[in-house]
Order: sequence, then C-alpha cells, then structure tokens
Amino acid sequence: MPGQTEATPLGDYLEIKDSRTGKTYNIPISDDTIRTADLRQIKVKDDDFGMMGYDPAFMNTASCRSSITFIDGEKGILRYRGYPIEQLAEKASFLEVAWLLRHGELPTQAEYDQFTQDITYHTYTHENIKQFMDGFRYDAHPMSMLTAGVAALSSFYPSAKNIHDPREREIAFVRLLAKMPTIAAFAYRHAKGLPYVYPDNALSYAENFLSMIARMSEPRYEADPVYARAIDVLFILHADHEQNCSTSAVRAVGSSHVDPYSAVAAGIAALYGPLHGGANEAVLRMLQEIGDEKNIPGFIENVKSGKGDAKLMGFGHRVYKSYDPRAKIVKKLCEEVIKVSGSTTKDLDIAMELERIALSDEYFIKRKLYPNVDFYTGLIYRVMKFPTDYFTVLFAIARTAGWVAQWEEMLLDKEQKIARPRQVYTGAAERKYTSNLDYTRRVE
Ligand code: CMC
Repeated sequence: MPGQTEATPLGDYLEIKDSRTGKTYNIPISDDTIRTADLRQIKVKDDDFGMMGYDPAFMNTASCRSSITFIDGEKGILRYRGYPIEQLAEKASFLEVAWLLRHGELPTQAEYDQFTQDITYHTYTHENIKQFMDGFRYDAHPMSMLTAGVAALSSFYPSAKNIHDPREREIAFVRLLAKMPTIAAFAYRHAKGLPYVYPDNALSYAENFLSMIARMSEPRYEADPVYARAIDVLFILHADHEQNCSTSAVRAVGSSHVDPYSAVAAGIAALYGPLHGGANEAVLRMLQEIGDEKNIPGFIENVKSGKGDAKLMGFGHRVYKSYDPRAKIVKKLCEEVIKVSGSTTKDLDIAMELERIALSDEYFIKRKLYPNVDFYTGLIYRVMKFPTDYFTVLFAIARTAGWVAQWEEMLLDKEQKIARPRQVYTGAAERKYTSNLDYTRRVE
C-alpha cells in the first residue's frame, strides 16, 4: 500500500523509500553496514524476487566478518590481529606471525618451539612431487608449477578432505607452510636446470628456503644474515591483506568444502595475475626503461598526460590513500640489502628520486597516490638475484599463512555458506529453439 512503513526494527536503521510503490522500509544497520538480504523484502509485486545489490568487483560489499587483519587505507594502518605491521616487521619472525594469524594470539615460547619443530619436520615432500615437477617444460612459469604442485598435494593427503576435523586442519596448515618453500625452490631449480636441494632442517625457515634456492656442492649453505632477515620480513609484510583477490578466491573455493590444498592452489592462481601479484615486476621494468635520473621529469610528464597509458608502477592502491605502511618498511630494507650486496644503487637512486618528485607533484597529491608495497620489493629481489618471473612465487609463500587462516575462519563462521553471487541477467528473453544444423549429415 503506498505510503506504508514496514515494522521499525530496534536500533539504528536505514530508511529506504521505493518510488515505484511509495513504500518505506527500515533496514537495520550494524557496524555501518546493512545486510543486502534485507533488501529482498523490497518488491513491487508479491511474486517478485526482491531487490538485490549490484556491486561488480565487490567494491563496496563486505563478504564476511573477519578478526584477522585490519586496514585503514586513509590513515595507512595495517594490523594483524591488532598488532601494528611495523612492530611485527621489526621484532617478530614469519612463523610467529603465521601462528598469530591462525590462532589470534601470539604463541607462548613452548607453542612456538613446537610449531617451529612441526614445520621443520614437514618440509620434505613425497619423492613423487619431484618427478611431477620434472614433467614440466624447461621454461615453465614457476607460478604454474607452484599452482600445480600445491594442487597435487591434495592427492598425497586425501584425509585433508575431512575439513571438519580440527586435527586435519592443523596438519594441513603445518604441511602447507612447510612444503610451500620446498615446492617453490624445486620450481626455481627446475628452471635453472639445477638438481633439487632437499630441506636442511637445522636452518631457520628463511635460511632453509635460501639454501634450497642457492646451495651447490657446499655441505651447508650459509645465507647472508641480512638476506635471510630481509626474506623473513618480506614474508611478514605479505602474510595477509584481508579480502584481496587471492584470499577471496581461497574463501570462495574453500566454501565448497574442498580440501585446503585445492583451495590454496586457487589462491596461487589468482595471485599469478598481473593485476595482483605482478606489480613489482612492472616497477623493475619501469625503472630500467627510465634508465637515468635525468629522464625522470619526462617520464612523470608522460604519466600525467596519460601518453601511451603510462602509469607510475608501484604507486596507488585501491585501499591505501596514504603511504602504504609496508612500503616504508620495504624502502629501509632495500637500502640495507643493497648495502651488503655491493650492487650498484642506480635503480634505487632512480626509485628514490622518482618517489621524491611524485610526492611533491600536484597530480599525485590530488589523487592520493603514494608508493605501495611493490615499489621497492622488486628491487630487493633483483639484488638477491631472483629472476623476475619468480617474484610472485615469493609473495605466494608468504600469503599462504593468511590464506589458510582466512580459509579456517570462513569454515568456522556459522553464517558462511557456499559462495554463490547473484547476477543481473541481461540476455535474451525466452525464445523457441530452431536449429541451424543438420544432425543427419556426416562430416567427412
Ligand atoms: N600512476 C598514475 N596515475 C595513477 C596511478 C598510477 N600508478 N594509479 C592511479 N592513478 C590515477 C588514475 O589514472 C585516476 O586518475 P583520474 O582520476 O584522473 O582518472 C586516479 O589516479 C584514480 O585511480 P584509479 O584507477 O581509480 O584507482 P584504483 O583504486 O582503481 O586503482 C591501482 C588502484 C593499484 C590498480 C592503481 O593505482 C594502479 O594501477 N597502480 C599501479 C600498479 C600497482 O602498483 N599495483 C600494485 C598494487 S599493491 C599490490 C597488491 O595489493 O596486490
């Protein structure tokens, strides 16, 4: 009935008036959010489906409630379970952060020791994984190998399907964190035509990874401590970033109740895309294209005029509208790594000058474009001599901690169901089928 108002709920609510019917609806608000399912009561006729929200790319739709990671993009804040990223990067280890992400609290010494031992115990993979890796072409992209390798793990641990068994979830978490660097290192060695290096369980997580990457005939590989710490810090910085593309993929695929290896493989596939995990590569290409500090003003002018679709890669972020807090940490780390490597600082000098000019330029200030995490990470990986197409693999190893924590949070959330978005259908109305084909004809 026009002008009718639906029952007023208790607490805050959003009043919506439907101009088609004149009806007013009060939609409850909690956490500055309305439930789009509450819009379904808004109908013109009783047998209508009801109102939906249309939100391509989920730009303004919360798909879950989460207590893992907090981001305030305007203020440049990133916290895991309430702990500021700056403090974790300075003082914690990646394994401590991985534990924190999953359990919500920092581990006690005893818990940490046990966890580290469990991870170490599970670093080896079944020998068939090596043969599986051997089956790839010499020039296979390491992200394809990682995606397939992690998906294959599901066939080695079929009991991981018992996702409602807490012990199975626990062991899958440990196995994924422990075996990811091993499979990643196998992919690296395969591309180089080098023999695979088995894990060295006397080493730390980062040292062992670097050993599997770089060890040759020496009895024990001793990574430079600055490099090992840099890897650990970069893993901390990339460990989680709330509901980004790959994490949403893990949650969506996991919501079908598939095993966690398959769900994480979906996350790796999502991360492989250049719009997600590949920006640090693009920064390096851009720095090399600029080539010299004297070319920076011309490059900036090209970006501003939009000539040739040039963008300042490593700048801007969908969420951060101020300095990405991770970028500050990575910048400092980059300087330290370059110092011990003895490498030329040419790319770093160009990057720093580019940043200085961009941050004082009206174009970038007005659009709130600041360096993001990828602006300096590629430089660190380059100095450590990782091939460019390997950068995303490093990101994937780290993000495994967040993917599994988010997957488990989704599973234990009583409100979650199989992910199944709606659509606004724009195709043909019903029509009669009349075939253009002659099925009695044989194709010779
Ligand atoms: N250089 C120059 N102009 C830019 C840039 C940039 N890097 N980023 C955004 N703009 C401009 C854009 O052209 C637009 O200008 P106008 O209003 O005149 O049309 C304005 O700033 C707003 O940009 P937008 O495209 O609406 O912003 P978005 O939130 O859709 O895009 C972004 C975010 C990260 C895709 C974009 O900033 C970008 O392409 N940056 C370069 C690539 C990059 O560094 N990506 C890594 C992201 S961090 C890693 C991760 O989270 O996976």
